[in-house]
Amino acid sequence: MSPEREAPQRPVGLRAEDIGVVFGRGDRAFTAVDEASIDVAPGEIVGLVGESGSGKSTVSRVICGLQRDYTGTVSFAGQKLTPKRTAAQWRLVQMVFQDPFASLDPRYTVEQTLSEVIRHHRLVSGKEALRARCREIMDMVRLPHGFLGRTPVTMSGGQRQRVAIARALALEPQLLVADEAVSALDVSVQAEIIALFAHLRDELGLGILFISHDLAVVKDLCARVYVIHNGIIVEHSATAELFRSPQAEYTRTLLAAVPRFTSRFLDRVEGDPQ
Ligand SMILES: Nc1ncnc2c1ncn2[C@@H]1O[C@H](COP(=O)(O)OP(=O)(O)OP(=O)(O)O)[C@@H](O)[C@H]1O
Ligand SMILES: [Mg+2]
Repeated sequence: MSPEREAPQRPVGLRAEDIGVVFGRGDRAFTAVDEASIDVAPGEIVGLVGESGSGKSTVSRVICGLQRDYTGTVSFAGQKLTPKRTAAQWRLVQMVFQDPFASLDPRYTVEQTLSEVIRHHRLVSGKEALRARCREIMDMVRLPHGFLGRTPVTMSGGQRQRVAIARALALEPQLLVADEAVSALDVSVQAEIIALFAHLRDELGLGILFISHDLAVVKDLCARVYVIHNGIIVEHSATAELFRSPQAEYTRTLLAAVPRFTSRFLDRVEGDPQ
């Protein structure tokens, strides 16, 4: 019989434990991430916030299997994930970047982009099923089917980011890691993409690790927030708690930089004046 264990507070999704990353060697060794632990349950949006250079992208690269050398462990639903992942493990965690061009081939139409990943991973069989699946994914990201025939350069930044999200969804992930995915967008477009992430969590039960340098963005979307400073997680709180009574001095500094209005995004989507 297995030993009695403490009941987990959240269903088990992503668990990154004691992650450490050191770049360079000897005198030049630089600790970019130091014993960082982060978990994200299915259907939960969790923020990772810190200034530029604090180690956010490095942590996300470890979680996504893009960083070879690190210490600590990454697991999903109890299954250990290393950088050497099977195709099925690779699909579990997908990234959305700040620059949608990073994941989109400018020569491909949206339909070609989506079809390629779906075919490569043999996720549907037959031409009709493939066509239908592409349309289903466009519905998920709320883009008209007419966009399937377009290439990235013919779209706005927000539309392009929806296509990048669509490409990630085509792989049927259980967790999205969104690394500054709205940072390059205008505030009104940010609001739309943030609302889209919330819909995807609700409709697909996706877990999302939402990385940002901006606490105001995180406030509207995330249930919990990790604050990272010089590679160390200095605070982990429920979002409301973090705003009400920040524990770490560094969090207070970050909060001081946030304008004193309650919600820049979701409230406005619902029609509040600024
Ligand atoms: N391949 C690398 N080699 C050496 N140092 C690196 C490498 N990648 C990142 N770093 C360093 O590690 C630290 C953390 O970088 P990281 O990109 O994770 O920060 P970040 O929080 O994502 O910053 P930003 O908000 O600017 O994206 C930085 O000091 C960076 O210079
Ligand atoms: Mg980064």
